[in-house]
Amino acid sequence: MQTRKLGSQGLEVTAIGYGAMVLEGYYGGVGDAEAIETIRQALDLGVSHIDTADAYGGGHNEGLIKQALAGRPRESATIATKFGIVFDGTPGRDLVTGWGHTLTLNGEPAYVQKSLDRSLQTLGVDVIDLWYLHYPDPATPIEETVAAMAEGVRAGKVRYLGLSNLTAEQLRRAHAVHPISAVQYEYSLWRREAELELLPTMRELGIGLVPWSPLGSGFLTGSASVGENDFRQINPRFQGENRVANEDRFAPLHEMAKRLGITSAQLALAWVLHQGDDIAPIPGTRKAARIAENAAAASVVLSAADLAYLNDLAPVGATAGGTLV
Ligand SMILES: NC(=O)c1ccc[n+]([C@@H]2O[C@H](COP(=O)([O-])OP(=O)(O)OC[C@H]3O[C@@H](n4cnc5c(N)ncnc54)[C@H](OP(=O)(O)O)[C@@H]3O)[C@@H](O)[C@H]2O)c1
Repeated sequence: MQTRKLGSQGLEVTAIGYGAMVLEGYYGGVGDAEAIETIRQALDLGVSHIDTADAYGGGHNEGLIKQALAGRPRESATIATKFGIVFDGTPGRDLVTGWGHTLTLNGEPAYVQKSLDRSLQTLGVDVIDLWYLHYPDPATPIEETVAAMAEGVRAGKVRYLGLSNLTAEQLRRAHAVHPISAVQYEYSLWRREAELELLPTMRELGIGLVPWSPLGSGFLTGSASVGENDFRQINPRFQGENRVANEDRFAPLHEMAKRLGITSAQLALAWVLHQGDDIAPIPGTRKAARIAENAAAASVVLSAADLAYLNDLAPVGATAGGTLV
């Protein structure tokens, strides 16, 4: 598996990583044994950049990673986790997302420290490779949160810092306090707003992008079916007229994938990878068999004509329906 450098501090991750959030039932349930098998399959195939968060299952997801890593060398995984969405009853600030549900956020220094020690313990590791603030806390200046995160680097508990779901302006302020290696933001053919301000700012500052939902929460694979206990029930892009419009818009993507002899998932990931070598997506799947399929996207080479066609198919803002962030 090829690797990519994120940021200017030395962080290097696999071109395709693995997003473990899907193992917490957001896209339908999966048992622990199967979940652990899927993470192990990623590690076996060299997909070593594993993304989680303390809030995914309230620590359960980090615990799955600990179990998947049991008996393997620590360096066989680059572990990325996040904090800042409160799940333990600590007071925080409520944020109503674009999908209409409420998250409670806390980026206060005391909560930063508590979160770090808890994640280290739940993951069963001495050091976290990449540690993100999941969402900025609207009541705590980002400088204060990042200064507290930097204490974790100084203490040797964290290797590299990341931030997620923030503005270009917040990123500038944060990066002035301590170098940021990676930003996590939704980015794919159906969500390209990062190209307007965030990505240019990241490139100016030398910071890498880790696109979340690089498959458009599964939509771009052409095989997404939304079940009953599936959080895409509240994602407007999957509903009613929006869904129909989006299916029409992205139908040519599936045709192109067929013509190229690859799957739609591989084409969607290959498009992301072709947007710059400072980009390393983390597709999620509950199915071990799909890890190899997604990893193979790193070897797909798209022509300039194919890229131009895809760019025209789905320019910034073209997808119907609102977004989470
Ligand atoms: N920072 C943040 O705020 C944030 C927000 C959201 C996500 N994330 C991170 O980003 C990761 C990825 O995002 P995501 O999981 O939301 O979305 P995604 O990777 O765009 O899509 C996941 C969906 O695609 C399906 N899928 C994956 N590979 C497939 C393939 N080859 N063929 C057909 N279907 C396929 C999965 O279904 P199956 O399970 O059935 O394969 C799942 O329903 C998460 O796991 C999480 O770690 C971060």
